[in-house]
Amino acid sequence: MKEYTPVKEGKVRELYDADDSLIMVATDRISAFDHILQNDIVDKGVVLTQMSKFWFDFTSDVVPNHMISTDVNDMPEFFRNEKFEGRSMMCRKLEMLPLECIVRGYITGSGWASYQETGEVCGIKLPEGLQESQQLPEPIFTPSTKAEIGDHDENISYEKSIEVLERDYPGHGEEYAAKVRDLTIAVYKKCADYAREHGIIIADTKFEFGLDENGEIVLADEVLTPDSSRFWPLEGYEVGKSQPSYDKQFVRDWLKANPDSDYKLPQDVIDKTIAKYKEAYTLLTGKEL
Ligand SMILES: Nc1ncnc2c1ncn2[C@@H]1O[C@H](COP(=O)(O)OP(=O)(O)O)[C@@H](O)[C@H]1O
Ligand SMILES: [Mg+2]
Repeated sequence: MKEYTPVKEGKVRELYDADDSLIMVATDRISAFDHILQNDIVDKGVVLTQMSKFWFDFTSDVVPNHMISTDVNDMPEFFRNEKFEGRSMMCRKLEMLPLECIVRGYITGSGWASYQETGEVCGIKLPEGLQESQQLPEPIFTPSTKAEIGDHDENISYEKSIEVLERDYPGHGEEYAAKVRDLTIAVYKKCADYAREHGIIIADTKFEFGLDENGEIVLADEVLTPDSSRFWPLEGYEVGKSQPSYDKQFVRDWLKANPDSDYKLPQDVIDKTIAKYKEAYTLLTGKEL
């Protein structure tokens, strides 16, 4: 049997190169306040992979995506076991575009900070008098550059995103920027509307796109998981304040109350957290995991 080692270990995911495809494996690791916690949230990776799969299927009429299969029986023998089952996605290898395609439907986080200072987010002028966590009249595209490990991503204007793409793809900057902007907004709208009807506000999210061998733009990475997005419970949503996180609130609250914990959670916080991930999955898909 051929053995595989990850070509990349991200904070939460592992990436394997399986010759003509990639295998993305979501682990059970969890991060909060920019730290990887000492505990695993058992099955969190399965929830994340299955959620991405749900959204890739749900949006396949809007944009082609990189998903080939989430069935380990379709993958090399090395992956056909419990360790990988449920949490692995076999994907088409793409040439990734050097942008994080962020879309915001609600004003919060760094967007709220920037709006308070300048009335703008990434060069987009917003109406006056918005309150924290308020829904925007229309979702906005606020791209950022992909930072090297350790660096923070840099928010850029739409015009700057054209330049960034033009540098790597001379003659295509404007075309690609317009395409990823329009796709980002279309995918977000469709999914955020659906999620809200099912009890979850997706305040903002990040997509990544790549080019396939025909130069077509393809949706890649993970999509609309709590790790790539801000999920808020619709119940109790109120403008004028920050909102609790759907998935990580127990973790954040506990870490704040226990600053000397060295990022090691007690079992009840772990249990409550995985229950939230599974609850989100069930609300969105109508299925139990
Ligand atoms: N279909 C694909 N083809 C090639 N690279 C991909 C594809 N989908 C996602 N990627 C890349 O795989 C990497 C996944 O790393 P990730 O687990 O997100 O770690 P990080 O914490 O560095 O973001 C990212 O660099 C992403 O751009
Ligand atoms: Mg990433």
